Amino acid sequence: MEILRTVESVREWVRRQRAQGRAIHFVPTMGYFHEGHLSLMRRAKADGGAVIVSIFVNPLQFGPHEDYARYPRDFERDRQMAESVGVDAIFYPEVAEMYPEGFQTEVRVKELSKPLCGKSRPGHFEGVATVVLKLFNIVTPDRAYFGMKDYQQLRIIQQLVRDMNLPVEIVPCPIVREPDGLAMSSRNVYLSPEERAAATVLYRSLQWAQEQVAAGERNAHALREGVYQRIAAEPLARIDYVEVVDAETLQPVERIERPTLIAVAAFFGTARLIDNTLVSP
Ligand code: PAF
Repeated sequence: MEILRTVESVREWVRRQRAQGRAIHFVPTMGYFHEGHLSLMRRAKADGGAVIVSIFVNPLQFGPHEDYARYPRDFERDRQMAESVGVDAIFYPEVAEMYPEGFQTEVRVKELSKPLCGKSRPGHFEGVATVVLKLFNIVTPDRAYFGMKDYQQLRIIQQLVRDMNLPVEIVPCPIVREPDGLAMSSRNVYLSPEERAAATVLYRSLQWAQEQVAAGERNAHALREGVYQRIAAEPLARIDYVEVVDAETLQPVERIERPTLIAVAAFFGTARLIDNTLVSP
């Protein structure tokens, strides 16, 4: 497995892979891997081609009071985990390699960036769209793999690819959960044992909503209220939002008539966790 620190070395690696007739399969990450990341890498590997993973904690997507400085980082651990699933190369740039002196361009996917996490994290999705477009231009992947836990991010990147005619296929991958249902996240390390136990309320509430829809509930307001009350009943949870939105536009819906996303965000201590589930009539 090769460790590439510069844009030029990635371009050179990509040229070598293509010369051997290999497709480029790309998994963009911020590192501190868990099973969710590994599932993306395994999928990229199983699809054939050369697999490249980027590890870059992107300062542009963190607000001034967010966790950029303390975001967990452990390159050596990540390197071993990536190697264990057969990754061919890691792109591990310094901040100055991605944002050299004088960098000033920003990418904004206007409407999809406004609701849900966009409301409570102003500028976040501009940071994501900007770095993902840069990474796509550097890596020039045939396919790129994104987890559905960050569903809004996935929709924004799909729209970016469509709007900018980027020649990459976006492959959405299912949420990977702990045995008790908690969605895997690098931020779960911030949780105390009590908060960790309390955080399962997110999955349990979404499961409840799934069951309601399966039993015939179509009223989005009733679903939202039910999920909200369940999370609010957990004393260690501080809700950021509970929303029932169209799975494509991310705009609120009144009834479950098309694929619909139930999305939640809540703080447990200092950790802000998100989760979601897709429901269909
Ligand atoms: O999902 C993430 O880890 C990040 O938002 C991404 C897509 C790697 C961009 O920094």
